[in-house]
Amino acid sequence: MKDLIKQLTEAYGPPGYEHAVRDIIKEQIGPYADKVEIDPLGNLHALKNGRNPKSSKGSGKGVKIMLAAHMDEIGLMVSHINDKGFARLTTMGGVRHETMVGNRAVFTNGVLGVINVENWLAHDRLDNSHRKLYLDFGAKNKKDVPVRVGDVAAFQRPFVDLGDAMVAKSMDDRIGCAILIETLKQLEQTPHEVHFVFTVQEEVGTRGATTAAYKVRPDVSIAIDVTDSGDVPERKHFEVKMGDGPAIKVMDWGMLAHPGLRKWMVDTATKNKIPHQIEVLTFGTTDARAMQLAGEGSAAGAISIPCRHVHTPSEMVSYSDTQNAVKLLLAMLSGPAKLDG
Ligand code: CO
Ligand code: ZN
Repeated sequence: MKDLIKQLTEAYGPPGYEHAVRDIIKEQIGPYADKVEIDPLGNLHALKNGRNPKSSKGSGKGVKIMLAAHMDEIGLMVSHINDKGFARLTTMGGVRHETMVGNRAVFTNGVLGVINVENWLAHDRLDNSHRKLYLDFGAKNKKDVPVRVGDVAAFQRPFVDLGDAMVAKSMDDRIGCAILIETLKQLEQTPHEVHFVFTVQEEVGTRGATTAAYKVRPDVSIAIDVTDSGDVPERKHFEVKMGDGPAIKVMDWGMLAHPGLRKWMVDTATKNKIPHQIEVLTFGTTDARAMQLAGEGSAAGAISIPCRHVHTPSEMVSYSDTQNAVKLLLAMLSGPAKLDG
C-alpha cells in the first residue's frame, strides 16, 4: 500500500485542479467498481453494489452508504505581479503562513517559485501574514515572470518512508483516498449500496462533498480524513495520538456524529480487536459536515487518521493507523448496518 500512498501524495492537486489525482484513482479502482462516474464538479464516484441492496432508511439489511475522501490539497494562487518581477499570493485552504517561508511552490505548468516574506532578515517571524509573502521566480521584471494572476500552485515535497511513520505534503487527504481505494479492492461482499466518492475542493469549504452527497442522497455517510495529533510538544487537551489507531470522531467544529453510527464503529472495532480511539476536535471539519446536511440529511460520522504537522508540507501519519482504518471499514461494510444508539 505504501507505493500507492507515495504515488497519491506526490501527485499534484490544489483545490479545483485535482485531475492528476483523479486519474490515478480511476485507474486503481476501475476493475473493482460496478460503476465509475465523474460528476460535473469533478468528484469521482465508484459504486459497489450489494448483493441485496435496499436503500430506504432503516428497512432491510442494506442501506445506502457514502464514503468520502478528498482529492485536493491546500495550495496557493497568484493575486498580483509587480514590476520588479515578484508575485503576491493568496491561499487556497488553511495554509499557515509560517510554513511558507523558504518553501517551494509548483504551478500547473511545472514552473517552480520560492516563497519568502518581506524584509526577511529583519522580520519578526511570528508576525507575518500571507499579505507580506511573495513568490520569487528569479525574474528581474514583470515580463520575465513565468506565471499569470490566477495561476495556482501546490507545495513541492517528496514522500518519505520512516517505517511506521510516513511523511508527505498531502497526507491530508490522500491517505483517505488510499484507504478508500484499498477498502474497495478488498471488499468481497456487502449487503449495502456503497458509494466510494473521491471529492474535490474540500480545503476551500467541503464543496465537492456538498454536490456529491446531493447526487447520492446517502442514508449513512462517513468521511475518511486526517485529524490533528495530540502527542507533539505542548499540544494540550487533545486525546488523539498518532499510532494508537484510527480515531472515531464524536464531533468537530462543523459536525456532531450520529450516535448510532458512532456506536456501530466503536462496537465493530472492539469486536474485531482493531485499535481505535475517540476524537473530540474543537476546530476544523470534514466532508462529513456536507454529507450530513445534504438532501433530507444522513447519519454522518468520520474516521480520522491522526496526523502530526497537519497543513504543513510535512504531514506525518502512521501506516498501522492506515491499515486499521481499512480493517474497520471492511468489517463495517461486510455486515448489516446498526444505527440504534
Ligand atoms: Co485539510
Ligand atoms: Zn482533509
